[in-house]
Amino acid sequence: MLENLPVVQGDPLWALLHQFNDDQRAHKIDMLVGVYRDETGQTPVMQQVQKAELKLAKEAASKSYKMLSGNLEFNDHIAKFVLGNSPRLDEQCTIQTVGGSGALRVLADFIATLSPQAVVWNTEPGYLNHRPIMEGAGLTVAPFRWEHNTGVLDIDKCFEDLSAAKEGDVIILHGSCHNPSGVDPLIEQWQQLIDFCIAKKVVPLIDIAYQGFGVGPEEDAAGLRLFAEQVDLIFVATSCSKNMGLYCERTGAAMVLTSDKAQHQALRTLLERITRANYSMPPNHGSAVASLLFNDPEDWLDELAVCRNRINDLRVALGQLLSEMGADESLQAVTRQKGMFSMLPLTAEQMTALREKHAIYGMLNGRINIAGLKQEQVSYLANALIDVMK
Ligand SMILES: Cc1ncc(COP(=O)(O)O)c(C=O)c1O
Repeated sequence: MLENLPVVQGDPLWALLHQFNDDQRAHKIDMLVGVYRDETGQTPVMQQVQKAELKLAKEAASKSYKMLSGNLEFNDHIAKFVLGNSPRLDEQCTIQTVGGSGALRVLADFIATLSPQAVVWNTEPGYLNHRPIMEGAGLTVAPFRWEHNTGVLDIDKCFEDLSAAKEGDVIILHGSCHNPSGVDPLIEQWQQLIDFCIAKKVVPLIDIAYQGFGVGPEEDAAGLRLFAEQVDLIFVATSCSKNMGLYCERTGAAMVLTSDKAQHQALRTLLERITRANYSMPPNHGSAVASLLFNDPEDWLDELAVCRNRINDLRVALGQLLSEMGADESLQAVTRQKGMFSMLPLTAEQMTALREKHAIYGMLNGRINIAGLKQEQVSYLANALIDVMK
């Protein structure tokens, strides 16, 4: 059997991470992985998470199996967090999943079961794992350009590419903090995307992995909620990896919204059959922690605001300095982008020079994680950027 083992290309992100770990230069900066870091360079466990974990450990409730849909209390909470007090809360069917990635895969399998011919339209550039997850479920993926003019999405380019979409296709949209560009649609552009989905009968799959990392939890869900007001069938993949820092606890949810309530039981059963044939049910710990945070959210939301503000302060500091240094306009868009990521307008050669000459590690396609930066490193980064762009 093993003689048929293919030579599979490793993930470029992890290859660069190995290189970073082996780099002996003390001033090296890791702007690679999509995790939040504080000013000391750590990815801390939130205090509210620690508190919840202590409470759970003391209570030592049973480790018996949960339902196939996971932790039902968590499912209710996360649906409210995503949808707010929308009347569509009555029209959602949510299951807990193994992180946001698990949600994407369950939804991909769901779509592939019901509509295997559907093409999934994916932003280019896009999240590294969207294509493999969709293709892993047997779906065909087609790209549409996600470009910007100094921070504002060039939606005409999106629609040029999307003109080939047909009824029943699926479009993946990032609810907020687009990975990797940091470029989110303006609210009027969300409306244009809604009009497109309605006119073309294209089904939106909204991946909201960074709710609370852009402007705030409510503001970051504004586009999704506008969709929920106007579009009947919507898929949502969400995650507590970033906004609760529960990365390795693999806590997320997949949601299907439809007003056809007669279908709810059947669609829940299909979602559960998909997970049952895969990992049976998701781990409970992260969802139990998340439920406690959702129950009494104030202190957690304050901690989340600290993370968000740190990133936004870094963006402002970097943008201001670049502007003072007379850097190219395209670099200054960093202040208008949202969330952890930005795409630097640099070639692969320039990104390599950034790494080799200045020990600053970003992805070859230009993606950097702003949260990997400390305030004291802003000026070093700005100078290095100007140097490699000379
Ligand atoms: C856009 C996007 N969707 C989904 C995910 C998956 O998150 P999780 O770690 O919860 O699987 C990520 C993680 O980086 C992401 O950036």
